[in-house]
Amino acid sequence: MITVRKLSKVYRVGIEEIHALREVDLVVGNNEMLAIMGASGSGKSTLMNIIGCLDRPTSGEYELDGRAVESMDADELAVVRNEKIGFVFQSFELLHRQTALQNVELPLVYSRARLTVSARRARAVGALTKVGLADRMDHRPNQLSGGQKQRVAIARAILNNPKILMADEPTGNLDSRTTAEILAIFLRLHAEGQTIVIVTHENEVAAHCRRIVRLRDGMIQSDLPVERDEAGRIFQEIVSRVGRAS
Ligand SMILES: Nc1ncnc2c1ncn2[C@@H]1O[C@H](COP(=O)(O)OP(=O)(O)OP(=O)(O)O)[C@@H](O)[C@H]1O
Ligand SMILES: [Mg+2]
Repeated sequence: MITVRKLSKVYRVGIEEIHALREVDLVVGNNEMLAIMGASGSGKSTLMNIIGCLDRPTSGEYELDGRAVESMDADELAVVRNEKIGFVFQSFELLHRQTALQNVELPLVYSRARLTVSARRARAVGALTKVGLADRMDHRPNQLSGGQKQRVAIARAILNNPKILMADEPTGNLDSRTTAEILAIFLRLHAEGQTIVIVTHENEVAAHCRRIVRLRDGMIQSDLPVERDEAGRIFQEIVSRVGRAS
């Protein structure tokens, strides 16, 4: 589904060069549920934005669903973003003057599939129902709780049946109960076959994914199935405790 090879991203700020990603290799297969973790500044969002075609790498290759992203022009990228990728952000990114339903419909308004108004509406209602918000469709974002806003954002992200659902700290602004609700939605989508990549700082969220990729200073530090990653974490804890004791 996603193959990146030697992906690098260098930001230039004045005379300074910031190496946000350094030759990252990553393969994400169909129907994976992957967590990306790492300290602040380690390059997680940079990697997400490139995989999500919101940004381009400085160098390296990226193949999405069998196609080389480097070779796509701006129009093709816009189509890919609209139809192949669903995005969920920490801050929800909803339009404040629009209702939940209007927010969810938006990707269809810009889609190549020229649906009628009623067909668009039906799709949006379906997506909102899927995230349990059928009774809040006419609410504006300021009339919704944080968890409800994030569910609207998820409904919008899955509307076009994207190949990949990407979420950058989707529960970063939510309490633990709401985090569990949002996680449950991701798990259900994954069970239905959705490929999901989640950036998270929270161990509980990552522990529910099948695989954890850890970034450090723009490089992949580890890439492990969850059981082994968990074992590694416990081992590290024991090592540090023993270290402190001696
Ligand atoms: N537009 C930009 N211009 C210059 N430097 C940037 C830009 N975006 C990110 N960086 C730098 O690139 C590095 C990686 O940033 P990135 O946002 O990917 O980190 P992150 O892992 O998502 O961190 P956080 O957990 O805080 O969200 C950081 O050192 C950051 O300061
Ligand atoms: Mg980030």
